[in-house]
Amino acid sequence: MALAKRRGFVYQASEIYGGINGFWDYGPLGAQLKKNLRDAWWQDVVMNPCAGALGPFGEPVRIVPIDTTIIQHPKVWEASGHVAGFNDPMVDCRETKQRYRFDHLQAFAPKSGDPGDKPYFAYMPDTPGEQKQRKKAEKAFGEVTSIPLRDVPKERWERVLAPEAEKVGSLTEPRAFNLMFKTYIGATATEEDAAYLRPETAQGMFVQFKNVLDTTRVKVPFGIAAMGKAFRNEVTPRNFTFRSREFELMEVEFFCHESQAAEWYKFWRDWRLSWWQGLGLAGENLRLRPHEQDELAHYAREGAGVCDIEYRFPFTYPDFGELEGVAHRSCFDLAQHQKYAKTNLEYFDAERGELLPNGSHKGERYLPHVIEPAAGADRGVLALLCEAYTEDPSRPSPELLKLHPRLSPIKAAIFPLVNKDGMPEVAEKLYTEIRNRFWRFGFVEYDPKQTIGKRYARMDEAGCPYCFTIDGDTLKDQTVTVRDRDTGQQERIGIDRVGDYLAERLGP
Ligand code: GAP
Repeated sequence: MALAKRRGFVYQASEIYGGINGFWDYGPLGAQLKKNLRDAWWQDVVMNPCAGALGPFGEPVRIVPIDTTIIQHPKVWEASGHVAGFNDPMVDCRETKQRYRFDHLQAFAPKSGDPGDKPYFAYMPDTPGEQKQRKKAEKAFGEVTSIPLRDVPKERWERVLAPEAEKVGSLTEPRAFNLMFKTYIGATATEEDAAYLRPETAQGMFVQFKNVLDTTRVKVPFGIAAMGKAFRNEVTPRNFTFRSREFELMEVEFFCHESQAAEWYKFWRDWRLSWWQGLGLAGENLRLRPHEQDELAHYAREGAGVCDIEYRFPFTYPDFGELEGVAHRSCFDLAQHQKYAKTNLEYFDAERGELLPNGSHKGERYLPHVIEPAAGADRGVLALLCEAYTEDPSRPSPELLKLHPRLSPIKAAIFPLVNKDGMPEVAEKLYTEIRNRFWRFGFVEYDPKQTIGKRYARMDEAGCPYCFTIDGDTLKDQTVTVRDRDTGQQERIGIDRVGDYLAERLGP
């Protein structure tokens, strides 16, 4: 986190006002890193779907993009189940002013029997408070057991000691809390004008499904893809940007016939995993985790399942945290919008259905099933930063970011060894050439100041994969030194080869 702040990757939002909980800004390097991740997704998902991989039935994957509004008709969220389903019961602590998800809280109680006059020691699992409460409980009871707070009898609620609280009985009764941000359309701000900031981009794609069908030549199976901001009034934003209240999604709704859903689900699950691996999350910190039956969302109970692509963030270690979810959503959303909007959203499939005696097809009308790979761009950036962060005490500056060259915000740096003797002129010319050729992919830097070691260290910390140095020999033999960030090794190449050298290594 310190490096991310120091090098301008991530800042606290509104920092000079003391920050605002759950909101983060990206500095110059972070903004470009996030853009590079979004561009990689757009390129490999939308423009060249699945990076050219064929679908499970041997056909090219078809995807079209869409860009929908953050504020949708309020009925969209009734149909999608968000108005009802985003109401997680919460409890507030009157003493510490903290708010907790009721179903996340646990409590330490005696191993057997009732605590009597002593408290139930409530805690949030996997927080430092857990150990503190355990110690207190062990002092009070000897052997302890952990129970969900909801199993504490109602009449004993007053005996609960909330996390971090000094006195028992500070928790309020559980009550519903809407995770969607509410706003008002128009100046009068009456309840009739209430609307929500979208908590996902998915619904915009379902709502425009018919328009996309009617105005393009897509045929099922095909996907609609969108990226954009989403807002969730998270109760406990934490772990740096991991759980924010404003974040960015990169989602595909892939429509297929029900009979093919299981195959497409497996295809997307495996391809999305391999995509993240290709961007450098290649080790054992990345895994696929199928949801247990009791974890499945309402729309996914019947079907091929839901799988999370998870990364072992330092904050969640030794556990993993969700980076992307791949879900078979059945035809739940289209069916709901069909019902709430009273509009037929069925697809007419001319190639399916009965074969008539005259040899022609009758066709089949159906609501397509949906496979949804939904990734978080901010969690992606966080995972990439965590994976790239490397400590190497043998270097002059022991911290570096081994970012994949395709994602590095700075693609190359050009240095004159010394800021005189004709070197700056050659270096500046090379810098201009390289910047003109590579600006689409990220920054190219020119740095003539300080010792060469310090300049390398600065670039290592920023994740710049290649530095090119112009020295005395360049003026004689037209070669430059290129230094590799990860190995620190140097080689000499012709100055006229620098552009191609980079192009070969920066990825698609
Ligand atoms: N349409 C499906 C959907 O939105 P989700 O699992 O709720 O699914 C998708 O969210 C992804 O969005 C997650 O895998 C995660 O990467 C990211 N995400 C969800 N909540 C987030 C939050 N509060 N802060 C940052 N990223 C979040």
